[in-house]
Amino acid sequence: MVAVHWFARRAWLAVRFVYMKTREAAETTFWHTTSFLRATPSRIRRIAGRLASVPPRLAHGVMRAAPWNRLRGGGAKQHGAGYVDLHEVRQFSMLDVNVLRALRKAARRGKGGVFDVGPYVGGSTIAMASGHRGRRKHVVIEAGGAYPDQPFIPSLDIIADLERNLARYGLLELVSIYQGWSDDPAVYRPALKEAGPIGLFFFDANGAVAEQLSICAPFMADDCTIILDDINAGQAKAAIVLPALNRLIAKGALVEDKVIFGTWFGHIGKVDRSVFAHYAHEEGHAWMMPAPDPARWRVELLEDGRLLGPDQALHADIRAHGHGAWSHWNFNPVTRVMFSTSDNTDPNENGRKYELKVYPR
Ligand SMILES: C[S@@+](CC[C@H](N)C(=O)[O-])C[C@H]1O[C@@H](n2cnc3c(N)ncnc32)[C@H](O)[C@@H]1O
Repeated sequence: MVAVHWFARRAWLAVRFVYMKTREAAETTFWHTTSFLRATPSRIRRIAGRLASVPPRLAHGVMRAAPWNRLRGGGAKQHGAGYVDLHEVRQFSMLDVNVLRALRKAARRGKGGVFDVGPYVGGSTIAMASGHRGRRKHVVIEAGGAYPDQPFIPSLDIIADLERNLARYGLLELVSIYQGWSDDPAVYRPALKEAGPIGLFFFDANGAVAEQLSICAPFMADDCTIILDDINAGQAKAAIVLPALNRLIAKGALVEDKVIFGTWFGHIGKVDRSVFAHYAHEEGHAWMMPAPDPARWRVELLEDGRLLGPDQALHADIRAHGHGAWSHWNFNPVTRVMFSTSDNTDPNENGRKYELKVYPR
């Protein structure tokens, strides 16, 4: 009887494995074959994007309803004490259980620090920490606050819930939580320092992935795994994430491995890290770059080694006239430099290098 059960279970796991791999391959193939459509301009791209999001969303629905998602609790028995059942974790994660599984696998396999942005109440972080089990430095950046209107996983205190969930699985000691905005130097600098060379970069936050990669790329190991959520055209943040992802893939800066339910898995390409440099467009001629707190630091802005100016210009003037005007400002809650280029060209395209020199006040 025991042998029959053993074989039946192995057979079931094998069928499930083949199904998962086939579905994963189909989704990745679909993504690849439609990439030429996504590369074409405006309207066609939007329509193709919407169409491309249908199969993953359907598959998502089917997988959530599948009977094996109801089976829980066998894990600890099979895998030993400390096992984290990702079906259970799925109850408080915005990510699909298959994405959580792939996150755990990526964290278990690689080496180097884990740089994890946007854990919310901890689903993705628990998946990764249960993979590396403290073998890797793991830093987490979360803005915190409350999200009482979240339809499935409301939270009145995101950081408290994150800590409670991590503690529930005995993983709280394995991660360092930095509360704040991931593009604030006061937050990301110490986090980068603690992580050491980044071996796994995970971003599931506000869509500003180009800016975050621009900050983190110089600190990534040569074989760094990159995992980005929100690439399904059905998701609002995809409007920002997809163009950035496609641009970096086209430059060879990111190399795709697979796509699972709207989450992109890949690794860093063998390119000069300067190709990641990216400045967010604000309005008119104004662009943004991260900068330290102006109350404590004075900065100089250089374009290809030459000082730009006038500094401390009016923001309306930077937007309307530009021509090198810039300002170091506390755009509550994050401090930044708002700047324009000397000839009002796009700093992401003009091939010039922009540098901040920082001095204590
Ligand atoms: C989509 S949720 C993350 C879901 C989570 N990964 C999971 O497994 O359920 C996005 C989270 O990112 C946080 N966030 C958004 N932008 C951020 C930023 N720039 N820095 C830090 N946290 C950010 C939000 O507070 C929110 O908790």
